[in-house]
Formats: sequence, C-alpha cells, structure tokens
Amino acid sequence: MKLVIGIVRPEKANDVLEALYRAHIRGFSLMRVQGHGGETERVETYRGTTVKMALAEKVRFEVAVSDEFVQSAIDALCDGARTGEVGDGKVFVVDLEHAVRIRTGEADLFAVTPVDDGPEAAT
Ligand SMILES: Nc1ncnc2c1ncn2[C@@H]1O[C@H](COP(=O)(O)OP(=O)(O)OP(=O)(O)O)[C@@H](O)[C@H]1O
Ligand SMILES: [Mg+2]
Repeated sequence: MKLVIGIVRPEKANDVLEALYRAHIRGFSLMRVQGHGGETERVETYRGTTVKMALAEKVRFEVAVSDEFVQSAIDALCDGARTGEVGDGKVFVVDLEHAVRIRTGEADLFAVTPVDDGPEAAT
C-alpha cells in the first residue's frame, strides 16, 4: 500500500476530484495548505538574517491505495492538476504500513478497498 500525496492548485482541485472518480478511486482526504516550491526568487536580507519567501495557497490530497491503484492515483493527480505553468504542484508517494477501517476492524488491503454500502457510503 502507498499513500499518494498530491499538492495542487486550489482551482484544479475539482478536476482532480473528477479524475480520481474516473479512476474508480473513492477514498481520499484533502486539506488546504500553504507552501513553497523549488523557485529561487531573490531572497531579501534585513540586518543579515531575515529571509522572506512568498507562500502559495495549495490543496493537498492524500490518497491511500493498494499497489494496483498507485499509478492511477498519480495519473489522476497529474492529469487533473496540470496547467503547464510553474506552480502546478508535486506528487509524493510514501509507503503505507497499516490501515484500519474503524467500523469493521478490517485492516490493510481490506481497509483501502472501496466498499459500496448504500446511501450512507459517502460518509
Ligand atoms: N520539496 C517539497 N517538499 C514539500 N512540499 C513541496 C516541495 N516542493 C513543492 N512543494 C509543495 O508544492 C507546492 C507547489 O510547488 P511547485 O509546483 O511550485 O513546485 P516547483 O518545484 O517549484 O515546480 P514548478 O517549477 O512547476 O513551479 C508548494 O507550494 C509546496 O506546497
Ligand atoms: Mg514553483
């Protein structure tokens, strides 16, 4: 299992949601974050110590998936978020050691596998 993390432009979050949906990926979290990319803009120095970097508003997706869905999750994040301009964001993939579905106690692959439990499934 992997945790696929995508940091994207807020205005592309809906396109990422659609791409994840089309890839049959239903479980994810997202949160608003601030960050800074690889840009090396002129650093302002004040009395030798102050470094000023502009922070950008981004949306961070976290998608826990079984190995067979890793590439689909990466593709959904990239395809949904890309504009081709600087600041499109980043994808990070990290090993996921353990997952538990709290309701059932199911663990690991069973916990990240999508379930269809009727009208309340979206909660
Ligand atoms: N090395 C990093 N570690 C953690 N978060 C990062 C890293 N690089 C970028 N981010 C996050 O991704 C956001 C978008 O980064 P950004 O797309 O500007 O990356 P970049 O490397 O500058 O690429 P580009 O040249 O396309 O702008 C940042 O605001 C930050 O939240
Ligand atoms: Mg950048």
